[in-house]
Amino acid sequence: MTQWLTLSRAAHLLGISRVSLQKRIREGELPSFDGMVDAEDLQRAWPQLDLDASGSFEKTRAIREDAFAKRLRERVLPSQEALAQRLFAQGQELAELQRTLTRYHRLVGDLRSRLASLPQPLAADLGHLLDEGLARAISAPAPRDDVRALDAMLRVMSAHVTVKPSGHEFFVEGSETLLKAALRAGLAPNYGCGNGNCGLCKARVVSGEARPVAPSDYGFSEAEKAQNHILMCTCTAHSSDLVLEVLEAGLPEDIPEQRIVTKVRAVDALGEDMIRLHLQTPRSNRLRFLAGQRATLGLSAGVASGDDLHAELPVASCPCDDRNLIFHVRRPASADFHGDRASDFAACVSAGLVKPGMEVSVWGPWGRFVLERESTRPLTLVAIDEGFAPINSLIEHAIAVDAAESITLYWAATRPGGQYLPNQCRAWASALDEFHYRPLDLAGLPAALAADGALAGSDVFLAGPAALVAPAEAALRAVGVPAAQLHTEPL
Ligand code: FES
Repeated sequence: MTQWLTLSRAAHLLGISRVSLQKRIREGELPSFDGMVDAEDLQRAWPQLDLDASGSFEKTRAIREDAFAKRLRERVLPSQEALAQRLFAQGQELAELQRTLTRYHRLVGDLRSRLASLPQPLAADLGHLLDEGLARAISAPAPRDDVRALDAMLRVMSAHVTVKPSGHEFFVEGSETLLKAALRAGLAPNYGCGNGNCGLCKARVVSGEARPVAPSDYGFSEAEKAQNHILMCTCTAHSSDLVLEVLEAGLPEDIPEQRIVTKVRAVDALGEDMIRLHLQTPRSNRLRFLAGQRATLGLSAGVASGDDLHAELPVASCPCDDRNLIFHVRRPASADFHGDRASDFAACVSAGLVKPGMEVSVWGPWGRFVLERESTRPLTLVAIDEGFAPINSLIEHAIAVDAAESITLYWAATRPGGQYLPNQCRAWASALDEFHYRPLDLAGLPAALAADGALAGSDVFLAGPAALVAPAEAALRAVGVPAAQLHTEPL
């Protein structure tokens, strides 16, 4: 019996990205039909697939063996009710399989009786043929079926959610909420409070079952109840497959301006002249933004002498990074305050006046330096100095949502050590087959771009100090990057 798997589930089983799987399909290594692949074809294309090598199998073993099993079970396993429901669904599939087998048994029995009524020696010959055929079928070596076994296990451990109308997909681990799982997967669903009050994360269950895991006072209308509306921030997936109708932000204008108060979690040096400012949002009030956008950060009067200070900075983290907001702040050339709010803000951070635990207001998001929603073109990202901040956000998001078949990062620096997060870039390049990292001096950037024959067919994102972005943009246009595919973020 054919077992069809969606591309997301197949990629999840193999532990590879969906775009890598699509590439193998395009190259003819794996047949697919209507966006699905057959479990047996998958096993043939990846004969080395091994249950022992699967992270999910490891997870199950850990649950069984870990000395702190209870805590681990709570984190990675769905609730007992969800487990029972998913096992029941698998039991039903097995029962259906058994019914099919019983029908085949009866068919063979009927055939034998019909054969017995035929004249001899025809009946004996046909009976002999039937016996031989059955013996061959039973003794034939059964193909390894690790894919089915692994898929059956994953269906119990984690739920697969399909989002309408976008077709986005994500997996829910344990009893985490649908909102948390969707954000972790890099989706941008509509939401507000995050704790069941505002109703902005409303979604309609099209098929499958979702159940609450947190209380909520939100009052649904009778019509909404009848149409199976739920809150994504308080519900988890109960069945192993769930289809939801969700309002998602795809464009910057889909996200309203917000103002929240965050707390400084850490302030760390990044090389000699950059600082990482790590803010944490309240649990119930996160900042909604799209990867690559900016926000304004405000320090109240009193942190430094004088007025309030604020600066508009690109968010360097991905919207999928839970409550964490990361910003890269360049140390000003002089530690003096000049009356310019943005540079005084940087001077404040540089002088150590912004400390863990301190409140920082954040408002925004701003800007249109975001990935194109439906594009399937390769991604080329060009960062100049601290222009790496929004590029970092785009890369983390692109990786989280499998946005591109290949990603190339050029990071041009105007000074030694200007690539202030080299290990992170190298780690991406070594972990992902289709990630290419090219660090270089700014002087070498035009020649490197001119030698890149793939640029004209890519979506290109360029960010850096305004004075340096303009010549790099001209170099990109000169090598044939169409204006519609070129996105710039002068800082
Ligand atoms: S985000 Fe406010 S109710 Fe879910």
